[in-house]
Amino acid sequence: MDKNRIYIFDTTLRDGEQSPGASLSISEKVEIARQLEKLNVDIIEAGFPVSSPAQFEAVQLIANEVNVVVAGLSRAIEKDIKSAYDALKHGKKPRIHTFTSTSDIHILGKFGDERYGKSLAEKRKTVLKMTYDAVAYAKSFTKDVEYSAEDAGRTDIGYLVDIVETAIEAGATTVNIPDTTGYTFPSEFGAKIAELKRRVKNINKAIISVHCHNDLGLAVANSLAGIENGARQIECTINGIGERAGNASLEEVVMALKVRKDLVKYFTKIKTEEIYNSSRMVSSYSGIVVQPNKAIVGDNAFAHESGIHQDGMLKNRQTYEIMQPETVGVPKTKIVLGRHSGKHGLKSRLIELGYHLQVKELSDIYEKFLILADKKKEIYDDDLRILMEESSIKFAASSYELDYLQIHSGTNSIPTATVRIKTEKGMLQESATGDGVVDATFNAIERALNTKVSLESYFVRSVTSGRQALGEVIVKIKKDDVTFTGRGISTDIIEASAKGFLQALNHQEQYFKAKEELPNSYLSEISQAV
Ligand code: KIV
Ligand code: ZN
Repeated sequence: MDKNRIYIFDTTLRDGEQSPGASLSISEKVEIARQLEKLNVDIIEAGFPVSSPAQFEAVQLIANEVNVVVAGLSRAIEKDIKSAYDALKHGKKPRIHTFTSTSDIHILGKFGDERYGKSLAEKRKTVLKMTYDAVAYAKSFTKDVEYSAEDAGRTDIGYLVDIVETAIEAGATTVNIPDTTGYTFPSEFGAKIAELKRRVKNINKAIISVHCHNDLGLAVANSLAGIENGARQIECTINGIGERAGNASLEEVVMALKVRKDLVKYFTKIKTEEIYNSSRMVSSYSGIVVQPNKAIVGDNAFAHESGIHQDGMLKNRQTYEIMQPETVGVPKTKIVLGRHSGKHGLKSRLIELGYHLQVKELSDIYEKFLILADKKKEIYDDDLRILMEESSIKFAASSYELDYLQIHSGTNSIPTATVRIKTEKGMLQESATGDGVVDATFNAIERALNTKVSLESYFVRSVTSGRQALGEVIVKIKKDDVTFTGRGISTDIIEASAKGFLQALNHQEQYFKAKEELPNSYLSEISQAV
């Protein structure tokens, strides 16, 4: 093993999916996992199997599909660990990832009950034992076990030394040090890793991993400080998505190491040319838009606006460019398809963009491609990504589908909408008025489905260029403090709005159905645990 090699543990499908409002269907997760394999990540954390039947199925499908280490998360509870193993067991390289909370704040908050001990010292002992038992139990299933000390960033260093030593003694081969709340400073976090390396007696039997959140915008800096002090695995996500302000962004840590190889000797095996495709796929499937000024993958990351900069670039690219867009897969020239492009041409471009196609799916996409090509003369990569996204929306199990939409509006008339919705129970049709056509459409849908939801946000943008551009609408609705997202795409913004609203309602419906099928308060127990 090269001592300077950094392992990339991608948690887009687990921590990333915990981003508020992000929700990926099972088929979208599998597609992303295939792209992560192309990107050559070392480990894919595919989900939290015990948390829902859909999570279990996604982890299982991914473990069976890819030739990469696949991790499943579990609390330090036997049923979670067993469920993680059951989901992973037919895969080629299963890793069970289990965790306990180790900071005093977490211990007192989560283990307040006296059965865990009366004093903090007693409770800490209980957590130490839980850690040992959980890792040893996981080890009885697979040799590849990762342990995480949740909120390690705020954990007392003496206790963290004991916990990490115990986890390694029980068989952990990777010990992860998360800065769960994104609280630490790079110098402080780096010192913590150095201290663990110095004080944990059996530390050479495991790889130290870092998992940094971005609450203070320091996740990437902290991850780099971690590796400079002995960590050899970085946990990160595509586009930096994740809980609250997100996780360390994969593209940023990887490119920082690559661009500054004059300064640091560490390297990853990431195929950086696949970064851009991965970023676009995750953004379109998750509905989380990449900010234009985002490092490496934002629309403006390689744009040079001012005259002085443009002039400098024309004379010598290096004046204002520290890396070339091609190294991260940003296309130099845009490939255009059109109505005369054949099925074969479409297929090969989609494969280049990272998609994987079944024969039937290709025919379906090709039909949609021809319809779009009739409306829009030139079809760009972003149009193709949208077509794929649309088809994955349709392939996801959905209970409601828009069958028909008619709107009436004008400067002097009351906006009115009529919708017909295909449901498992048959067609439902209703009309309603509203403050504008979007409001009228949402009111008509609510009336047809006999429901009322609180609209959290409504976002519309053009995702491709030209007058016939495709518009994307992202709708967030909230029920019982849970947010659900829906996306709709069409050249017609009102139709896109109706589709997005219905998709959010479908996610809401699926969530509450799954919740009914699970034992009491299981989901809330889980959301508290992570
Ligand atoms: O942020 C965190 O502490 C986590 C752990 C479960 C690894 O996501
Ligand atoms: Zn996390």
